[in-house]
Amino acid sequence: MINVEFVCLGNICRSPLAEAIFKQKILDNNLTQKIKQNSSGTAAYHIGKNPDPRTIEIAMKNNIPISHKGRQFNAVNGEDYDYILAMDSNNYYNIIDALGYKHKGLFLMRHFDPIEKGADVPDPYYGDESGFKNVYDILDRSIDTLSQYIFSKHSLL
Ligand code: 4NP
Repeated sequence: MINVEFVCLGNICRSPLAEAIFKQKILDNNLTQKIKQNSSGTAAYHIGKNPDPRTIEIAMKNNIPISHKGRQFNAVNGEDYDYILAMDSNNYYNIIDALGYKHKGLFLMRHFDPIEKGADVPDPYYGDESGFKNVYDILDRSIDTLSQYIFSKHSLL
């Protein structure tokens, strides 16, 4: 099983949306027996909570089922992950600090963005709905590229 973890700060906005979009892609490609996904936050504020209502709204608008309870990133079993996608550079360096090393599968989410490679997925929490639409669009195209990368790396499809 290939294990893919999406990580942001709070695990109620960006990473649960990334998890849900990626999950839909895995379902569409009949790869649920090969690839699993989850999401977490570097912070502990929202453990056990549902995604932000604005996250749920933008997912539903795009026909992406979303269901997640907030988790904190678990640095104990770093080697259980094949890929760790950090939403921004703060998350990226916090993950390295938490693990104590640079995991070989750790990438910035927008390493896979064909439009603005390596940029941060902006934190939409303190903004309005337009920020969530922007995050959705960024994640949608970045996850297209990420999926192709993983499928080809593991000779799937
Ligand atoms: P996320 O957004 O990291 O995309 O889930 C945030 C959610 C909550 C907070 C910050 C960012 N917060 O400070 O509570």
